[in-house]
Amino acid sequence: MKSAIPLELQAPRSCPRRCPEGFTPPYGAWVARDHAARTQLVMAYFGVQYDGPAMRAPAEAAFDKIVALLGGEHAAGHVDQAGFRDDAGYDTLVAIAYWDDPNGFDRWRQRADVAGWWESDARLADGPGYFREVFLPTNDRFETLFSSLDQPEGVAIVMGGLDPEDVQEHSYWGSMRDRIAAAQGDPLAGADARPAPPAETLGRRVRVGGVPNLAVIRSGQDWGATRDAERDMYLNDIEPVLDAGMRFLTTEGQSIGCWTNRYMRIRGKQKSFGLGYWRSLGDMEAWAESHSTHIAIFDGFLQMAAKLNFQLALRLYHEVSVMTPDQQFLEYINCHKNTGLIPR
Ligand code: HEM
Repeated sequence: MKSAIPLELQAPRSCPRRCPEGFTPPYGAWVARDHAARTQLVMAYFGVQYDGPAMRAPAEAAFDKIVALLGGEHAAGHVDQAGFRDDAGYDTLVAIAYWDDPNGFDRWRQRADVAGWWESDARLADGPGYFREVFLPTNDRFETLFSSLDQPEGVAIVMGGLDPEDVQEHSYWGSMRDRIAAAQGDPLAGADARPAPPAETLGRRVRVGGVPNLAVIRSGQDWGATRDAERDMYLNDIEPVLDAGMRFLTTEGQSIGCWTNRYMRIRGKQKSFGLGYWRSLGDMEAWAESHSTHIAIFDGFLQMAAKLNFQLALRLYHEVSVMTPDQQFLEYINCHKNTGLIPR
């Protein structure tokens, strides 16, 4: 068992760990493998937003174009395709793309066909809304956690898989922070205020500036391999509570620092994930540790795991980043005013 913080990022702490001295977790968990040469990653959410069935065909065509553009020279290292309906009733298709190198991403972004499509004025008036939410956390500002070793997801795929040795910092509240190198000496406090909302967003291209220590979580569930009692427990006991927790964050999250939340399904798979953009890591921790829905999911998971002797087919993972303002690029094109990180 090793520390989740790689050796080259370990530093003397001015912010103490919550991990008890000599702690041994009751079950194993793993993190994405790191190599010192990689210093920064790119996680990008490319969205198409549409309202009603009449707009579905153009939105799907635009989404296919976005996905096709992610291939070719300097292509993304991994792409997931997902969808959700937002709380304003708009359907949204999202391609989640990862690069293991910001220079490669930059060259991709400047490719004539990519820049030509995203920056064209035609996007303001061809029907759907579009967004680009790009996050570029440095190594010291993100962490991952996986409940099983056999299947990397998301960012772990471009990082080259999981470290085969399990880690110490998990299965207690506060462990997420204990896995982030930058938190060894920085409380990672969130922004005090947000800019005023833009007067109009439809028919406009709105760029939103980064804020200090924006915290982003992608927390995924894969129940494709579950069978019998485990599948029943997941679908009947855990998922409905997860759905309620996600609904709370989506509709009322603003009051507790969750600026945006999306509960998404990966297209064509038995996989889902919650994607949350939070004012701060502290706000996210407070929800996870105190909200009845997450406590019930957490307890339900531990009971299910114990019943099945910790031999679970359900796979859980998450990736969390806490970013400086210059590690965020946010653009909304012809989107409704409550989309993503547009200030409300
Ligand atoms: C931590 C269960 C979904 C937010 C945890 C942990 C478990 C858990 C067992 C402790 C992990 C460890 O350190 O070993 C679950 C289950 C879920 C689920 C079973 C769904 C079936 C979510 C979602 C979110 C979320 C969708 C938010 C988008 C968090 C956060 C922590 C956490 C922020 C870290 C708490 C901390 O370390 O202080 N969850 N979770 N979880 N979960 Fe979830």
